[in-house]
Amino acid sequence: MAGRLPACVIDNGTGYTKLGFAGNSEPQFIIPTAIAVKDKIGSNAASLRWNASGGGKIDDLDFFIGDEALSPAASNYSVKYPIRHGVVEDWDLMERYWEQCIFKYLRAEPEDHYFLLTEPPLNTPENREYTAEIMFESFNVPGLYIAVQAVLALAASWQSRAVDQRSLTGLVIDSGDGVTHCIPVAEGYVIGSCIEHIPIAGRDVTHFIQQVLREREPQIPAEQSYEVAKAIKEKYCYVCPDILKEFTKYDTDAAKWLKTYEGINNISKKPFVVDVGYERFLGPEIFFHPEFANPDYTTPISEVVDKCIQRCPIDVRRGLYDNIVLSGGSTMFKDFSRRMQRAIKRVSDNRLLMAEQLSGGRVKPKPIDVQVVSHKMQRYAVWFGGSMLGSTEEFYQVAHTKAEYMEKGASICRHNPVFGTMS
Ligand SMILES: Nc1ncnc2c1ncn2[C@@H]1O[C@H](COP(=O)(O)OP(=O)(O)OP(=O)(O)O)[C@@H](O)[C@H]1O
Ligand SMILES: [Mg+2]
Repeated sequence: MAGRLPACVIDNGTGYTKLGFAGNSEPQFIIPTAIAVKDKIGSNAASLRWNASGGGKIDDLDFFIGDEALSPAASNYSVKYPIRHGVVEDWDLMERYWEQCIFKYLRAEPEDHYFLLTEPPLNTPENREYTAEIMFESFNVPGLYIAVQAVLALAASWQSRAVDQRSLTGLVIDSGDGVTHCIPVAEGYVIGSCIEHIPIAGRDVTHFIQQVLREREPQIPAEQSYEVAKAIKEKYCYVCPDILKEFTKYDTDAAKWLKTYEGINNISKKPFVVDVGYERFLGPEIFFHPEFANPDYTTPISEVVDKCIQRCPIDVRRGLYDNIVLSGGSTMFKDFSRRMQRAIKRVSDNRLLMAEQLSGGRVKPKPIDVQVVSHKMQRYAVWFGGSMLGSTEEFYQVAHTKAEYMEKGASICRHNPVFGTMS
């Protein structure tokens, strides 16, 4: 359609919201999914608000979202996080949050753009209806599609592959701030019953580093210790092939491996310096040795991935091992994909060997190809997949329209057709 404005693509994560316009290669903004409100507004009476407020009228503009919500400008407000473990918990706050995303950040007129939003694995149909009510009634959008994050992440990985290898079958490892999921997708459909959750994600790595530094580097101001640990994590951490060898490297040539982080005390404005050592590789190691951080959880991520694939129907397993796609900020550590690939291959080889031994050598299973795909858009893969698919003609065909909504109601959004098979 000539002159059509690009779709708005918004991926609301537990920690960060990625927002921008379809067709772009990067989101315009990556901002914390935080909202600072005067106390009276922030109710948790989530889903009841529709009856109470008469349908989406926004009557109070006195709030901040994103980085502003966490800045001193909002110090008299209370900070809330409308999304928990990927799922919207407070629809009232979410609506206000979207309002600023659209008007203040994207500076878009919602009547003029189709919207592509994302949902986590196992989102409920009711949540899709709430989203549709807000989008169509409060913002009057002409069209809406709620895409499954894992499917978008798979589509995002296409740009690192040849056209004939573009597949919507794969195992997505999405690791954000609050949670890590392994999500098997076959032909664009999530195999919901086989999704695995791992209680280790970015926040846990940050906490781990914060704890190590707290004991060793007392010059870090206590109220900044989380931010400092997070900055160190994002800048200096990497995944090593073997921790014992890594310790030796540091001990033999410290100057080569130790780093220095320079910070400024927010209150006194004085600079401070932090030495960064083993935590560079020990932080992300908790994905592979979770017991370092959490004594109650000891399964390495590679075993969870293997188990996840083994629970899937036998005819898709090889396709899943062969297309393990990374997505989310916490998969950004250098060499994460390399270690994952090796570790998963080892688990699966061991299993095959055991099968062979148990059969007394009569069964010789065919080796399994394990491929972990890493690509440039991994940090915001879900958003990027949304941007790609949201600029296709197919998106406009599968999106639900305002007219359809007016005629049939929010239930039209209980399900969204799979799309993305055309490229
Ligand atoms: N370069 C990096 N290296 C390591 N970690 C990073 C890097 N950049 C961002 N992160 C971490 O990624 C996490 C945020 O990732 P992401 O934006 O994918 O999460 P989210 O979508 O908000 O959360 P979720 O998917 O759990 O709902 C944070 O913990 C952040 O510290
Ligand atoms: Mg996410």
